[in-house]
Amino acid sequence: MTTTISYVRRTLLASVTGLFAFASTGVAMAQDAYPNKPITWVVPFAAGGPTDALARHIADRVARELGQPIVIDNSPGAGGTVGAAKVAKAKNDGYTFLVGHMGYMGAAPALYKKLGYDPVKDFDGVFRFPDTPLVLMVRNNHPAKDIAGLIDYAKKNPDKVFISNAGVGSSSHLIAALVASSAGVKVTMVPYKGAGPALIDVIGGQVDGIFDQTNTALPQIKEGKVRPLVVTSKVRLPQLKDVPTLNETTMPGFEASTWYGIYAPKGTPKMAVDKVQNAYLKVMKDKAFTGKMAEQAIQMLPADQYTGDALSKHTESEVTRWRAVAARSGLSLD
Ligand code: MLT
Repeated sequence: MTTTISYVRRTLLASVTGLFAFASTGVAMAQDAYPNKPITWVVPFAAGGPTDALARHIADRVARELGQPIVIDNSPGAGGTVGAAKVAKAKNDGYTFLVGHMGYMGAAPALYKKLGYDPVKDFDGVFRFPDTPLVLMVRNNHPAKDIAGLIDYAKKNPDKVFISNAGVGSSSHLIAALVASSAGVKVTMVPYKGAGPALIDVIGGQVDGIFDQTNTALPQIKEGKVRPLVVTSKVRLPQLKDVPTLNETTMPGFEASTWYGIYAPKGTPKMAVDKVQNAYLKVMKDKAFTGKMAEQAIQMLPADQYTGDALSKHTESEVTRWRAVAARSGLSLD
């Protein structure tokens, strides 16, 4: 007798479980009822920068697919690690996600002795954004006419070249540090809460230059507010035909872009993760949508690299890669 009842109970539970997903908080979530309230994406940089701009562009379309607003919560600090730690500890109920990137989800374990989270263990990958190359820009009245001129200027004025960035471990910091160490020059890094405010001070002439991502750099270049010297893509960008690459100038073989992805706190119901991923994968089939990003020199990826699983694998390999880069280049927090 007992076996039958337990058998019936198990089958019933199984079918009910199929319909509901259980967060590790034990809260039942009907598959078709998710999401039933606004979702939060934490952007660990100040508003107005490249991460913020790209996240808002994608959130707008994904929200329409999901039928619920996606609220951007700007939580800047320490090169993005403050926002990442916040999401690592957030409720894993499918309503809080991290806009992660190469710096605080790839390089940070190699740079920060005490990091309040583990990019691999504390998160589930949801989906990956396209990549964004960077441009080195200087203030308009800067004496350097090209990258060789800037390196020469830095050699003659050690520590007197002020390069702004979005905080230690941000991509604007990492790339500037790698280029400076490869050129054998000492520059003074000036950290801000994001590339947005960091770029404003280049335009204002308070600092000498910045490596910023193309989506927010191109408009300022087009308006002649700053002068581009080099780009970090392997080949020249169609939007900046006259601007050479580091690869063809001072750093043969060098190539870098900021990679991004949406992450969920570990243990978030797979049903919710899949629903958000699938909404994005659908949006990325819209040529008008991806075309707008391509105009900003954002680099589209092969479709199989946009999934949550692909992002998790990429994060793991990037944590390993940046350990080697840091060891080889002597990259450190100071
Ligand atoms: C960076 O890492 O430099 C960021 O992308 C900065 C930002 O988005 O504000």
